[in-house]
Amino acid sequence: MPLHPAPGNFTMMARTKEESRAIRAAEGGAEKSEYVKRAFSEIAPRYDLLNHLLSLNIDRIWRRKAIRQLGLSRNPGGYYVDLCAGTLDVSAALAATAGFRGSIIGADFAEPMLRAGREKILGVKAAPVVADALALPLRSNTSAGAIVAFGIRNVADLDAGIAEIHRVLEPGARFVILEFSTPRSPLINAGYQLYFNRVLPAVGGLISGHRTAYQYLPRSVANFPSEEELASRLTAAGFTSVSWKSLSFGIAAIHMGVKRA
Ligand SMILES: C[S@@+](CC[C@H](N)C(=O)[O-])C[C@H]1O[C@@H](n2cnc3c(N)ncnc32)[C@H](O)[C@@H]1O
Repeated sequence: MPLHPAPGNFTMMARTKEESRAIRAAEGGAEKSEYVKRAFSEIAPRYDLLNHLLSLNIDRIWRRKAIRQLGLSRNPGGYYVDLCAGTLDVSAALAATAGFRGSIIGADFAEPMLRAGREKILGVKAAPVVADALALPLRSNTSAGAIVAFGIRNVADLDAGIAEIHRVLEPGARFVILEFSTPRSPLINAGYQLYFNRVLPAVGGLISGHRTAYQYLPRSVANFPSEEELASRLTAAGFTSVSWKSLSFGIAAIHMGVKRA
């Protein structure tokens, strides 16, 4: 699998067993699911605070842009999947989107993340569901659309995750991915790597008490496929009209694919 190298990345030497686990998890493999589920369960109470603080709230704007790519007008009353829903920010934003009349399944395998966010979806047609993205408890060809924000990078088997969401979508439905990326500009990337590899683990570790989770984050981004590669993987899984656009100088990207009608 071609990787998206992160020029200027700092090499992180493992100092503890937990750091070694985080490094191995970021590189994929058998331990990834177990590490990711445990790490997110542990940081759940501080996840929102850190997310908005460390991204200077840009994450909210990115999520809204991603939701626009769902093309809700095709089936505004259908059910939509918020995959790797975490603390349900996407579910809440989607429910508040003008014209949306459907329902939402917020699926995540780390129950503490869903619990931490449950107040955001009070009074809206959204259900948090503890489920693995690789085996969704949903019938084939039934969902009006699916979106995953900052989650697909954490799924242990990317192609299997894409195939599973493709299975549950109805023909013509869209799958939208919002994910971190690596900026192309060497100058922007240098600043980004410094922030991602030094500032973020220090601040994230201090506030969450879970330093390795914030060491895992930049490594998992560096190991994630490039935008072009991710687009090819979506096409290979059977999605059509695949497109993507960069956000904020390439710090993140939104991909979209349509299940063939
Ligand atoms: C970085 S958080 C993103 C949460 C949320 N989507 C957001 O926008 O803030 C990633 C989430 O993916 C979940 N996750 C990772 N792998 C998963 C899997 N195989 N099945 C279900 N959830 C998974 C984690 O538990 C975590 O809550």
